[in-house]
Amino acid sequence: MSLDGKVAFITGVARGQGRAHAVRLARDGAKVVGVDICEDIASMDYPNASEADLAETVKLVESEGGAMIGTKADVRDFAAVKTAVDQGVERYGRLDIVIANAGIVRLGDEPEDFLTVWRDIIDTNLTGVFHTVKASTQHLIDGGEGGSIVITSSSAGLKGTGTSKTGGSAYTAAKRGLVGYMQVLANELAKHMIRVNTIHPTGVATGMVMNEAMQKLFASGDPALASMQNALPIEILQPEDIANAVAWLVSDEAKFITGVALPLDAGFTIR
Ligand SMILES: NC(=O)c1ccc[n+]([C@@H]2O[C@H](COP(=O)([O-])OP(=O)(O)OC[C@H]3O[C@@H](n4cnc5c(N)ncnc54)[C@H](O)[C@@H]3O)[C@@H](O)[C@H]2O)c1
Repeated sequence: MSLDGKVAFITGVARGQGRAHAVRLARDGAKVVGVDICEDIASMDYPNASEADLAETVKLVESEGGAMIGTKADVRDFAAVKTAVDQGVERYGRLDIVIANAGIVRLGDEPEDFLTVWRDIIDTNLTGVFHTVKASTQHLIDGGEGGSIVITSSSAGLKGTGTSKTGGSAYTAAKRGLVGYMQVLANELAKHMIRVNTIHPTGVATGMVMNEAMQKLFASGDPALASMQNALPIEILQPEDIANAVAWLVSDEAKFITGVALPLDAGFTIR
C-alpha cells in the first residue's frame, strides 16, 4: 500500500487518531501537512492537545523517515486552515489525501452556557470539516491524479446514541451531518477521481475519552452509557486500529470505494 510521492493534509494531528494517521501514512511514504488548535476550548470539559504534542507528532513522523509541516491552526478559522494547506502544497508540490479528523465532545453535565457548547461543537465538528474540505479540494483537482478525502465521523453518526444533553446532541447532529455532506461531495468530485468517505469509529483510547470528565461520567453509571457497547468483546480500540483502516482506505487498494460510511466499530452499530 505504498503512498510514495503522495501528500496528506490531516487536521487534529497533535495527538490521538490524527497523530496515528500521520505516523502511519508517513510510514507508507506520504508527506504530511497537519494542523491542530493546540489550545483548550473553554466550553469543553477536557483539555485539547498542546504545542508540545504537535512537536511530538512531527518528531514521530520524522523518525519514520517522513517529512511533516505541523501548524497551530483552529479548523473554525477558514483563513488559517487555507494558509496551512497552501503552505504545505507550496512546500511539497501537491495534495492527494485529506483526513478531516479534528473534533471535540462534551458528554458530561449540562452547563449553564449550553448555547456556547452547541456552537463550539457544531463549529468544530461540522463547519471545521467544511473548512478543511473547501481549503483542500482545488489542490486535489489541480494534482490531476484523483485523491481521497476521509472525514472522521463517529458511531454517533450512524446510531442514535448519546443523550439529550446539549454536548451529546450537538456531537451526534454534527457527526450525522457529515454523512450527508460526504455523499454530496462523493457525487460531485467523482468526475475528478476524488473519493470521499466517512469513517465511524467506536470508542478509541485518546484524549477525548481518557480524561477526568469522562471517568466521572462512567463512574456515575449514566444510563446512556449502557447502549454504548461493542458487539465484539473489545472495550476500546486503539488509534492505530483506526489508522490501519484509513491507510487502506486512502490507498489504491480501495481505489473504487467512494460514498461509503464505513463503521470501524467492533460491531457497535449492529448491537
Ligand atoms: N475517541 C473516540 O472514542 C472517538 C470515537 C469516534 C469518533 N471520534 C472522532 O475522532 C476524531 C479524533 O479524535 P480523537 O479520538 O483522536 O480525540 P483527541 O481529543 O485526542 O484528538 C482531537 C484533536 O483535535 C484537536 N482539535 C480540537 N479542536 C480543534 C480545532 N477547533 N481545530 C483544530 N484542531 C482541533 C485537539 O487538540 C486534538 O489534538 C474526532 O473527530 C472525534 O470526534 C473519536
